[in-house]
Amino acid sequence: MPFLSDTLARVKPSPTIAVSNLAAELKAKGQDVIGLGAGEPDFDTPQNIKDAAIAAIVAGKTKYTAVDGIPELKAAICAKFKRDNGLTYTPAQVSVASGGKQILYNALMATMNPGEEVIIPAPYWVSYPDMVLLAGGTPVFVEGPSQNAYKITPADLEAAITPKTKWFIFNSPSNPTGAGYTADELKGLTDVLMRHPHVWVMTDDMYEHLAYDDFKFATPAQVEPGLYDRTLTCNGVSKAHAMTGWRIGYAAGPVALIKAMSKVQSQSTSNPCTISQWAAVEALNGPQDYIASNNAIFKRRRDLVVSMLNAIPGMTCPVPEGAFYVYPAITGLIGKTSAGGTLIDNDETFAKALLEEKGVAVVFGGAFGLSPCFRISYATADETLREACTRIQDFCAALT
Ligand SMILES: Cc1ncc(COP(=O)(O)O)c(C=O)c1O
Repeated sequence: MPFLSDTLARVKPSPTIAVSNLAAELKAKGQDVIGLGAGEPDFDTPQNIKDAAIAAIVAGKTKYTAVDGIPELKAAICAKFKRDNGLTYTPAQVSVASGGKQILYNALMATMNPGEEVIIPAPYWVSYPDMVLLAGGTPVFVEGPSQNAYKITPADLEAAITPKTKWFIFNSPSNPTGAGYTADELKGLTDVLMRHPHVWVMTDDMYEHLAYDDFKFATPAQVEPGLYDRTLTCNGVSKAHAMTGWRIGYAAGPVALIKAMSKVQSQSTSNPCTISQWAAVEALNGPQDYIASNNAIFKRRRDLVVSMLNAIPGMTCPVPEGAFYVYPAITGLIGKTSAGGTLIDNDETFAKALLEEKGVAVVFGGAFGLSPCFRISYATADETLREACTRIQDFCAALT
């Protein structure tokens, strides 16, 4: 009898966390490594949010709470959905978990049965397919190619739907590409979903507030109210409020689904951290002005990275609408050999040689389901980005 479960054998550890760990390991050994793998803002959590957490501790708000969130946070979440998305939810339709990741995990664990399918646009956030597999389902990928700015078309979505499709996972702006769907583009997809009433929508709006230029964020239940009853609108404070370590994510959707998700959570982590919940109340109800100032910095960094990467022959980097990632395609570099003698036969060997020869850690596109590409997180200082991109330029210039 094997000790480890068969389910676990189908799942791989997060490749993005692996890259961050490898970069940290090499740094600890004294190597000059620039890590561009981490998916978190380099900004500190705003002081008013920290103060709210300290006040919660001082006031003794340090005990267990209701499984899926304190009423004050649920009320703040309902107000947020109304304010930002024009969506009306009651507290009974809201669930809070230990990060956006746990929200998605709870929803999949609560709904998937063997043989059921989940449609995931590729490139995708690394955790979607593995969470579907852990929950016993089957991921079905729909490719959004670089020529279409990494977005899928309504026809692609239509072709992927089968009688076994349970969920369509939607993520805009996207990790790993930063691509954002306009309301019109999204309407094309929701029109398809309206023709298939058995398909539910799990929209991961984690990067809602990280949008640049004049891009306007849109979410499925807002664009197509007809989908409201079969949409789980997921979000969290991690990225927009620089609160990755606080571990608070949330979602709103039909009461029966929310109750089922709460059941999963009640038998795993109980409630999300009490103190973090009070901090999240302040994040959602307090001033939001730092989001715009952080975004101005992110946009400057995006423009810097995109222009430096597009100056490399053989590399094409679409300009993303949001998040803090770029996803350059390296089709023109495949088949070349690095100065250190590595044959660049795919994006994994590219990323490995770049790390070994130039000390720049990026995540290879294969990890996100679309090659040959790689992902850079530009949530780091301008000077670091400039140095990293110069090293990438040097690395590519030396390819023969
Ligand atoms: C698309 C996407 N969804 C969800 C998450 C999870 O966020 P959290 O840190 O709140 O679990 C991430 C984090 O990287 C993400 O990129």
